[in-house]
Amino acid sequence: MEPDGEEVVLITGCSEGGIGHALARAFAANNCLVVATSRSKVSMADLEQDPRFFLQELDVLSHDSVQRVVSSVLEKHGRIDVLVNNAGVLCVGPLAEIPLSDLQRTFDTNVYGSIRLVQAVVPHMASRRKGKIVNVGSVAALAPGPWAGVYTASKAALHALTDTLRQELRHFGIDVINVAPGAIRSNIGNTSIANYSQLPEWKLYKPFEAAIRARAHFSQGTKSTPSEEFAKKTVAAVLKKNPPAWFSYGHYSTVLAVMYHLPLFVRDFIIKLAVKG
Ligand SMILES: NC(=O)c1ccc[n+]([C@@H]2O[C@H](COP(=O)([O-])OP(=O)(O)OC[C@H]3O[C@@H](n4cnc5c(N)ncnc54)[C@H](OP(=O)(O)O)[C@@H]3O)[C@@H](O)[C@H]2O)c1
Repeated sequence: MEPDGEEVVLITGCSEGGIGHALARAFAANNCLVVATSRSKVSMADLEQDPRFFLQELDVLSHDSVQRVVSSVLEKHGRIDVLVNNAGVLCVGPLAEIPLSDLQRTFDTNVYGSIRLVQAVVPHMASRRKGKIVNVGSVAALAPGPWAGVYTASKAALHALTDTLRQELRHFGIDVINVAPGAIRSNIGNTSIANYSQLPEWKLYKPFEAAIRARAHFSQGTKSTPSEEFAKKTVAAVLKKNPPAWFSYGHYSTVLAVMYHLPLFVRDFIIKLAVKG
């Protein structure tokens, strides 16, 4: 524990309306000093006047941006106790036709972006033999269905990397937590559809256009969990003295945890009914 007792928490992807923003507010409500980051400060303008937040622009795709922010946090607060890799993008489209550039952008953000942050903070955390790294994966990776194969593969990769990191970093006193949200209300559907609209027309998959578009909004139904509720539960788990290796919460999280253990033919049948694909 630091003398002042406040944990310094660095979170990526804190645009208003999303999970990162809700996590930032929930950590602040638990007496943490929050470094809320996003690609543009405008998207976090509502946090600007609150002294519990230190706002920084950070693009997880940029090595320089990550280094600059980590240095300025260490200069201001002298430490980073918790890193939350929350920034992420949803990518929808059939694997046989989706442009490889979209696949690369998704992995660059969701996978390499997270590791870029990990590599930037680990030397500091290891030197103090203290720290927590939270990677935000997804329950979608537990039972991959059609139209979001790129996204679920990126999250499955992140889950695997997180499991390895947990074992490699425990030697340095760093806890690593895999957080797998269920369906949580956020901007993810709208952002994904905006990206989808830039894609070329499908060829073989033209008849599936409506189902593919619907996948972008799948997590944003009327029953999706409010981001505030998700954030409150997640922060309580992360701030425990001995945090869990895996934390999953939100609409569909139980269903998908069960589906993960089902035989593939049963799982495929259930997904076929749910996604109409
Ligand atoms: N909502 C769900 O149901 C759900 C379910 C499972 C997992 N997740 C995961 O939860 C995390 C948060 O998603 P969300 O639902 O809150 O979606 P969101 O509202 O779209 O928020 C995503 C955040 O990531 C940021 N981001 C995207 N690319 C970035 C980059 N290159 N550098 C820095 N920030 C970047 C976005 O910034 P801009 O505003 O600038 O685009 C935004 O702040 C993601 O990892 C997502 O995969 C969400």
